[in-house]
Amino acid sequence: MTDFFTMQPGETAAPLPPGPVLCTGTAAMRRIHRFFLWAYGEAPGLVRSAAPGDTARASYVGEVLGNFDKVLHIHHEGEDLLMYPQLKERAPACALHVGQMLEQHRQVTQRLQAIEPVRLRWMQTADEESGAELAARYEDLSGVLNVHLRREVTEMMPVADRVMTEKEAAAVGQHGIQELDKKFLVGYLGMVLATNPREDQVELFKEIPAPVRLAYKLVGRRMYRKQYAALFPGRPIPPTL
Ligand SMILES: [Fe+2]
Repeated sequence: MTDFFTMQPGETAAPLPPGPVLCTGTAAMRRIHRFFLWAYGEAPGLVRSAAPGDTARASYVGEVLGNFDKVLHIHHEGEDLLMYPQLKERAPACALHVGQMLEQHRQVTQRLQAIEPVRLRWMQTADEESGAELAARYEDLSGVLNVHLRREVTEMMPVADRVMTEKEAAAVGQHGIQELDKKFLVGYLGMVLATNPREDQVELFKEIPAPVRLAYKLVGRRMYRKQYAALFPGRPIPPTL
């Protein structure tokens, strides 16, 4: 099986600046991108899993999807602030690629903004029309992400690994962790872990503040299992740390 993060025909990576690899940004990016790929791959089906009129299910599913959207928005915000300006400055030959990635971020933001009112309406009414629109909008977003999340890893991150320090690369991930409250992290960490192979779960866990790790072991893992079962009744629950 080919890895998802494989360059497609006709795509070219940004020119690599000389010098050694300074950080493990690519590996960290793959881990969080796996979560988004999974989340948005599931989003349309989750919307369709609420029968018309089932406002209890719609408000539950809608809240989870809103949280995915929040995490995605914060992820891109961190890159826009802490990664792309640095890449542009330190690897000027990559300006074209940086421009493309920022344009893809803009396309994602536009879609998230259009989704928000539809999602909130659907949570209240669970009406068929809003549900169909919301599912279609998530499908469209998933299409954009399937290109962006792959190309950022294959085309941009090899450059980031050569021009950013480990501390700077870690700060991109930490932006997301700082913007989300601790309670939220405890509840959602399991889903992020579950989309990664075991070795990556171990690495991901190291990025999490110690109190959140402890709370995850005490209650978060159980919360994840309960939430997964509620979202996908009857499916086996993917194992996590
Ligand atoms: Fe990213």
